[in-house]
Amino acid sequence: MNETIEIVDNALAHADVGRGLPVVLLHAFPLNRTMWEPQIAALFGECRCIVPDLRGFGHSPKSGPYSMERHADDVVALLDALQIEQAVMAGLSMGGYVALALFRHHRKRVRALVLADTRAAADSAEAKQKRNDLIAVATNEGTASIADKQITGLIGKSTREKQPELVERIRGIMTGESVEGIVGALTAMRERPDSTAMLAEIDVPTLVVVGEEDTITPVKESRAMHEAIRGSRLEIVPGAGHLSNLERPAAFNAGLSDFVGSLLYN
Ligand code: MLT
Repeated sequence: MNETIEIVDNALAHADVGRGLPVVLLHAFPLNRTMWEPQIAALFGECRCIVPDLRGFGHSPKSGPYSMERHADDVVALLDALQIEQAVMAGLSMGGYVALALFRHHRKRVRALVLADTRAAADSAEAKQKRNDLIAVATNEGTASIADKQITGLIGKSTREKQPELVERIRGIMTGESVEGIVGALTAMRERPDSTAMLAEIDVPTLVVVGEEDTITPVKESRAMHEAIRGSRLEIVPGAGHLSNLERPAAFNAGLSDFVGSLLYN
């Protein structure tokens, strides 16, 4: 497997691995593209994995302003640079918000959607207040405090009990991110529009995935998204929490690979 990382001007740092149908893998908050390593390893023989660090994360530019629309524009600029017309947009949690923004603003570039451990609804007033609290924590205490506050919600109970080394790896990624990127992403998530009504307009093949133990975006919400998106599939990953792709990669990859394979014949 050859992974290339390219950083050009204001463009997103990214990996571009494999050949064939392009699949863009969009990471969660507050992580970076390295969270998709188990999927790249499983999929690079079947499709072309384009894996960016979203603005503010990993090796990508940190300059604002931040919004879901800008994240979507960044992804399209990357696809333009790679001369890719259409791609499967696969996002987990915050990455799912970006995938929905791609459908809203760049419909023609979306071949299919994967919405993993994410939601269509905008932030409630209470959720917005929590974003503001986290912005204060990031600014006053730094990224280690953000990791401490977020880690239990991000990882399912079974993984916390059985895979402590994975928990520490995820904590390390979070701690290594920048305060600027974290504050920018919290602001963008707080201000994102509600996509619930748009679900009925989604007319591309869609896979909804959720960890059985996800408490941030619970199964109930994914089931509702699946019911609202005509013809969509729903995969529930047993024994996984919010970061279902990292917690149970084999089960996650099986669903993703089957879905990507189905696109090749349609
Ligand atoms: C994520 O995993 O990206 C976040 O939990 C999303 C959010 O806070 O809304």
